[in-house]
Amino acid sequence: MALFMGGLIPESFIEELLGRLDIVEIIERHVPLKRAGREYQACCPFHDEKTPSFTVSPQKQFYHCFGCGAHGSVIGFLMNYEGLEFVDAVEDLARHAGLTVPREVSRKARPSAGLYELMEAVASLFQEQLKASQEAIDYLRNRGLSGEVAKEFAVGFAPAGWDNLIKHLGGDEKKRSLLQRAGLLSEGKSGTYDKFRHRIMFPIHDRRGRVIGFGGRALDDDGPKYMNSPETELFHKGRELYGLYLARKSQAKLDQIIVVEGYMDVVALAQFGLRNCVATLGTATTGDQAELLFRAAGEVIYCFDGDQAGRKAAWRALEATLPRLREGRQAKFLFLPEGEDPDTMVRSQGGEAFTALLDAAQPLSEFFFDHFTAAVDMDSIDGRAKLVEMARPQVDLIPPGVFHDMMFSRLEILAQHRLSRAAGPVFGGSPNVLPGRKPVQQRTPMRLALAHLVQNPSLVALAGDSGRFSGCELPGIEIYRELVDFCTKHPNMTTAQLLEFWREHPARSHLITLATWQFPGEEKLLAQEFQDAVTGIELQWTELQIARTPKIVDLGPDEKAALLQLQHHRQALIEALQGEKS
Ligand code: UTP
Ligand code: MN
Repeated sequence: MALFMGGLIPESFIEELLGRLDIVEIIERHVPLKRAGREYQACCPFHDEKTPSFTVSPQKQFYHCFGCGAHGSVIGFLMNYEGLEFVDAVEDLARHAGLTVPREVSRKARPSAGLYELMEAVASLFQEQLKASQEAIDYLRNRGLSGEVAKEFAVGFAPAGWDNLIKHLGGDEKKRSLLQRAGLLSEGKSGTYDKFRHRIMFPIHDRRGRVIGFGGRALDDDGPKYMNSPETELFHKGRELYGLYLARKSQAKLDQIIVVEGYMDVVALAQFGLRNCVATLGTATTGDQAELLFRAAGEVIYCFDGDQAGRKAAWRALEATLPRLREGRQAKFLFLPEGEDPDTMVRSQGGEAFTALLDAAQPLSEFFFDHFTAAVDMDSIDGRAKLVEMARPQVDLIPPGVFHDMMFSRLEILAQHRLSRAAGPVFGGSPNVLPGRKPVQQRTPMRLALAHLVQNPSLVALAGDSGRFSGCELPGIEIYRELVDFCTKHPNMTTAQLLEFWREHPARSHLITLATWQFPGEEKLLAQEFQDAVTGIELQWTELQIARTPKIVDLGPDEKAALLQLQHHRQALIEALQGEKS
C-alpha cells in the first residue's frame, strides 16, 4: 500500500487500473509510435535524439528508453511527461478508464473539495478588492506591473483590517473552520483574525491550476515583507513552485525553465515575455522541486542574487540537482550583480538583454569546480588533496553516465592525480529514476530467472518445487523467493502491474533493469530459458555445497553418502541443461 497526501490508494485499484488501460494507446496520444516487432518505437520525449531508442511494450505494459534510461508504467509515463504527482496521474488515468479512485482513509484526513473551492473564492475576493483599492493599484503601477500580467497571475489585495476574510467568507462556524484549515487565519490573545492584512496577494497554484496557498507582499513596514501560507492539507512548500502551472500552460513542452527567488521576479519576467519562470517559495530548493523542474524542462537555469545569500541558495539548488542529472538534463546558474534581482534587471535592461544574460549562464560544472577551487590552495598538494576530499562525494551523487564520468575526469585533472574508481557512484535521486548508461549486466542464471518472472509472472508455474532451494545462500535468492511467492499469488499480472506493487521495494530498480532485457518472442523458448535459468541456479548452489564439503578422507559414512548424492544431483542437473540443447 502506498501512502500519499490525500489518502491511501489501494494497490488492488492500481492493479485494476493498469489492467484496463493500454500503455500503447495512452502514450500514442502524446508521442507518435511506430511498430517494430513486438514493441513500439519512437524518438524519446524525455531527451533529444535523432534515432529512436524509446520503446513501448504492449506485453509488459512498460516503456523504456535505451538512451536516457527513462522507464515505467503508464502511470510513470504521465508523471514524467505531464509533470504530475503519482496521485494526480492515477486520477487522470482513472477518469480515462471510467473508474473512480477509492481512498482507504477517513474523509476527514483528505483535502475536501470544499477547501479548494474556498481557496478559489478567496483568490477571487482578493482580486475584486484589488480593483477597489487605489492604494494597491498605485503600488503595483509604481512597480511597473501591467494590468494584463496582474490579471494573468490573478494578483489580488488583502485590505488592512482584522476580519476581511472572516466577514466575507467566514459566515458560520463551519466556514470559519474551513478558513482555519486553509491557513488563512491567525490565533491571538484576543481571538481569531485574518492572517494576511494590507498585502498584495499572489495566489499559488498547484500543477493542475488549483489555488493551494498565497504569498503576500506588505504595503507598509508592518511585519515581514513577505508572508506565505503555512503548510496545510493542500500546501507543501517544498513540493510546489510558484508559477509552474502558468509556465507549463504557456507551452506544451518547455525547453528551458528559469528559477528565481521572488514572486515579483516571476511576474516581471512574464511581463517581458519570459513565461518560463518559476520561484521557490522562500525556502532552499528541495530535491522534489529539482525533480519537478526537470520534468517540466530539460534545461534548468537557477537565477540568483550575486551576494553571499544568493550563492548559498544556488549551492543548495546544485546539491538538490546533482542526483537528478541523468542524460538529457542540464542545469545552469546565473548570478546577478549585487543589489539587482530579475525584477529590477528586466525592467532596466529589457527582455532581450535578460535573455542574453541567460544564454551566458554558467554551466553547473563550472560553478561546481569554481566553488571548490576557490576554497583551497590549488598550488599545494595538500590543497588539491582537500579538493578531492570535498568534491569526490559530490561528484558521486551524479548518476552513472557520461556526465558523471566527465566530472570525474575533470576532478582528476584539477587534482593532477588519477583517482581510484573503486568507490563507484552512489545511486541518488528518486527511486523510480534509472540512472543513465549502466554497464551491461551479465546474464547470470539468477538474473535470468528474475528477469523472466518480472516479464512473465505466469512462468512461475514452471519454477518447480520450492524445496529445491532450501538452505540456499546464493546472492539474490531472497528476492527470487519473494518474487516466486508474489507471482504465485498474481500469475496474471503484467510487468507494469507487478512493478507498481514493488514501488517501495529495495530491489525495485534492479527488477526494472531486468524488465528491460530482451528475450525471444516464442513462448516455448521463453519457458525453456526460464527453466534452464532455475536449473542453473540449482546447479550453482549444488556446486557451492560440494565445494564446501571437506576432503573425502575426513568424512564419516553419512557425510560420504550425502556428498555422493550431491554429485549425482549435479550430474543430473548438467544433463538436464545439456539434454535440452541437443
Ligand atoms: P526578496 O527579499 O529578494 O524580495 O525575497 P523580492 O522578491 O525582491 O521582493 P520585492 O521586489 O521587494 O517585492 C525573495 C523571496 O523570498 C521570500 C519571498 O518568497 C520572496 O519573493 N521572502 C522574502 C519571504 O518569504 N519572506 C520575507 O520576509 C522576504
Ligand atoms: Mn525584488
